[in-house]
Amino acid sequence: MSDDKSRVQNVIDALNKARSMELQAISQYMVQHYILDDLDYGQLCGWQKLISVDEMRHAEDFAERIEALGGNPTCDKAGPIAQPQTVEQIYPFDVNMEQNTVDTYDKLAEICRQNGDQASAALFDRIIQDELVHLQYYKDTTTHIEKLGDAFLAKYAATSKHSGPIKSFVKVMKKEDF
Ligand SMILES: [Fe+2]
Ligand SMILES: [Fe+2]
Repeated sequence: MSDDKSRVQNVIDALNKARSMELQAISQYMVQHYILDDLDYGQLCGWQKLISVDEMRHAEDFAERIEALGGNPTCDKAGPIAQPQTVEQIYPFDVNMEQNTVDTYDKLAEICRQNGDQASAALFDRIIQDELVHLQYYKDTTTHIEKLGDAFLAKYAATSKHSGPIKSFVKVMKKEDF
């Protein structure tokens, strides 16, 4: 393999590593969204669904970049799906997932830069900004459940799970239109 080819392959591998993490996150958050639905925590369920949809956009963004570079987007998940989980287990678990994602994407962006691909590095940098919004939400929710327990969860019991026309969790948190 020529130097140029191996540099592109290093970037494709980095993008596919990220894509496999997104595919894991999509399924994990979908499973949690069904658990929250069964518990009738409507709004928590609706937000979990939106976050899963954000991760699907990321998976597609990585796939498009991989295809532009001549690679094949992986369909393998990075790891197994944890289930069943209680509502108290879901949020700290997701803090760990998002923190791991941010830390890993920082390193993968650096690999892209080292291999001369600024566009792929910029894609990682943009997606990291979304993951930081997810991370903050999961941290806040974990803290509220730890400190307020049932008093916090009672706010969400029997609320609507429908998230309206806004289809991006990041936009919801930033109070921006879709
Ligand atoms: Fe993501
Ligand atoms: Fe995320």
